[in-house]
This record gives sequence, structure tokens and C-alpha cells, in this order.
Amino acid sequence: MRYIVVCFLLISNLEANYKALLFNGNCTTCHFKNKTVSAPSVSKFKEVYIVAFPKKEDFIDYMSKWVKKPNGKTSLMDDAIKKHGLMPELAFDLSTLKEITEYIYDTDF
Ligand code: HEC
Repeated sequence: MRYIVVCFLLISNLEANYKALLFNGNCTTCHFKNKTVSAPSVSKFKEVYIVAFPKKEDFIDYMSKWVKKPNGKTSLMDDAIKKHGLMPELAFDLSTLKEITEYIYDTDF
């Protein structure tokens, strides 16, 4: 029993680290956590999205699809596009983007 619990903890820990790694490796090159430089900070775009999509599933669904194919018409941050230009497409599959956006929803920046 104890072995099973330890395994479970280990796996869920690995999974959380894996999501953090995906996020840090792929988003923070442009999005600093709390500072807007070449793109809005993560805390800034999270704030805008959480107001529009307070429910976790809606947040993940909209953000992952938007990041898959950035589009000025469906953007929630027109000002950011005016200031920085539209975010480039990154060629991730949707399931990876769902893991990354879930991590963003669950983390305090
Ligand atoms: C090459 C730089 C770059 C990378 C890498 C990047 N972004 Fe962006 N992103 C931008 C810029 C610039 C904007 C602001 C303009 C815009 O909204 O399109 C932006 C805007 C956004 C927005 C706001 C969308 C809106 O409604 O306009 C979200 C959400 C976002 N990025 C998520 C991500 C996530 C998640 C990742 C990692 C998978 C990521 N970005 C990686 C440059 C980047």
C-alpha cells in the first residue's frame, strides 16, 4: 500500500514538473512572469483570461486554441497586438498546449 502511495506521489510530481518545463521552455522566452517586455507578462495575460473565463475548462480550451493559431479577431488583448505585433504561431499540438495552459491556470505568478 505504502509503495503504491509513494509511486502515485512520484508520478503526480513528475507530471507537474513536466508541465512546468513545457511552459518555461516555450513561453517564458517572450513572456516574463511579471514584467512586460517584448510581450505581455504571464500574470497580465492570465488576469485578462481569468476574468473572461473563470472556469478552468473554458480557460484551457480558449487559450490553448488561441495559442495554437494566434488570431487578431479572437484576441482578448488588442492593445498588446498594437504594441508588440501578433504573437507568432509556435507549431505545438493542441494536447501540449492544453497541458501548458492548465499549468498557467493552476500557478500563481
Ligand atoms: C516569440 C515570442 C512568443 C512566444 C514564444 C510566446 N508568445 Fe504569447 N504572445 C507574444 C506576443 C508578442 C503577444 C502579444 C500580442 C498578441 O496578443 O498577439 C502574445 C500574447 C499571448 C497571449 C494573449 C492572447 C490574446 O488574447 O491576444 C497568450 C494567452 C499567450 N501569448 C500565451 C502564450 C503561451 C501559452 C506561450 C507558450 C506556449 C507563448 N504565448 C509563447 C509572443 C510570444
